[in-house]
Amino acid sequence: MLDLIIKNGKVVSDGSVVSVDVGVKNGKIAALGANLNGAETVADARDFYVLPGAVDAHTHLAMPFGGTVTADGYLSGTRAAVCGGTTTVFDYAIQRKGGGIVETVKKRREMCETEACCDYAFHAAITDLGESESLLDEFDAAAAYGITSFKTFMVYKKEGMMIGDGMFVKILKRAKETGILINVHAENPDVIDANIEDFRKSGTMTAYYHYLSRPEFVEEEAVKRAIHFAAAVRAPLYIVHLASVGGVKAAEAAKRDGHSVYAETCPHYLEYTSDVYKRPDGVNFICSPPMKGPKSRDALRKAVADGLIDTVATDHCPFKRSEKEWGKDDFTKTPNGCAGIETMYPYMLSLANAGKISYPRAVELCSTAPARLFGCKDKGGLHIGKDADIVLYDPKKPFTVSAGNMHSDGDHTIWEGLRLKGYPVKTFLRGKLVYDNGEYVGVPGEGKYIKRAKFSCQ
Ligand code: URP
Ligand code: ZN
Ligand code: ZN
Repeated sequence: MLDLIIKNGKVVSDGSVVSVDVGVKNGKIAALGANLNGAETVADARDFYVLPGAVDAHTHLAMPFGGTVTADGYLSGTRAAVCGGTTTVFDYAIQRKGGGIVETVKKRREMCETEACCDYAFHAAITDLGESESLLDEFDAAAAYGITSFKTFMVYKKEGMMIGDGMFVKILKRAKETGILINVHAENPDVIDANIEDFRKSGTMTAYYHYLSRPEFVEEEAVKRAIHFAAAVRAPLYIVHLASVGGVKAAEAAKRDGHSVYAETCPHYLEYTSDVYKRPDGVNFICSPPMKGPKSRDALRKAVADGLIDTVATDHCPFKRSEKEWGKDDFTKTPNGCAGIETMYPYMLSLANAGKISYPRAVELCSTAPARLFGCKDKGGLHIGKDADIVLYDPKKPFTVSAGNMHSDGDHTIWEGLRLKGYPVKTFLRGKLVYDNGEYVGVPGEGKYIKRAKFSCQ
């Protein structure tokens, strides 16, 4: 006897769409076939797509940043995630000066134990190697604990998060030896600071100058530098939140040359351009890297469709409207980051619905590829034996995004007013219904920590 059968849907997995029933037992996919029978619960998915839950490989929940803390903690952030069809999040645990990697992650994991509404993993963000670079000796222990990817920041000097090139290369080398994938935020900090200094002198500090302080070449140079170092020491590299046409070209060239370089972008770079910073609410869009010009947006759209971009993630990092307003006359005072955890999968699926990408491609970008790259063997597809993280998507359901119909603790969203055709109607987390037609119906704390495997995609 199965626990759940999802009947009559179009199942998207492994690059194809097939009409098949899905059977679930003990939280796992237990059967795939025509006319399955014999379950406690039957969900009719006629006219719906049946998809693996999204794996959002980039979030910042309960993160102290920019003089405050992100508006979503683990409870509200993961609640919002499942309401948008995301069943796994990868949060960034920031290791601070003197702190250990496992110690940092353990503290975050404790918070999740009572709060998480979906499954979760952590990337550690390395900001300091400690005395005698002792942190390098902790990489093995971190991998054994299931932390098999680290983020490094080439920016955020004054926030104390930036690492220099020398440290970056040391981290790459040690990561390669220990099966860890390095994620990099690539922007050139000195050029940004020089631009800000000039704008301050000329008294031009409104939101649009945030973009002008970090134009396309600022990311392009850093992406090239990061790839150069990774290729030189033959370490794999994952570039987070890629936003510029030059960065896309650099990643493309590296892949062509056979380097293990992976690229992530975010829905906001696919939808918006730097024009958003000219809007009266421009500060709300301040994030780093900023939205760029139309050439970058178009190059990213093409790269998403063509296969050059490996993953789409949110970089969910929301701040309250009043906090974003801190920078209305001086953009450097606005905490960087925007909301997206609940809108990513609906947005990417709406591209599939509109024929801009295929459904299998949307699933590959948002679920299968991040699960594979980051060592989550039970996630990312609808195969027998995988976790039954399942989304029913109604391609006809109209939905207009508004802060009021999101499930986050944020009080605004950069996606306000976006009209989507198609929306998730049910989300199952390991076979249990957690989202039902607009309502969160799960229990906080039921999300589980994912102990990840070492990187092995080379
Ligand atoms: O503006 C952003 N992206 N804030 C979050 C931190 C980061 O750089 O990912
Ligand atoms: Zn970043
Ligand atoms: Zn981020």
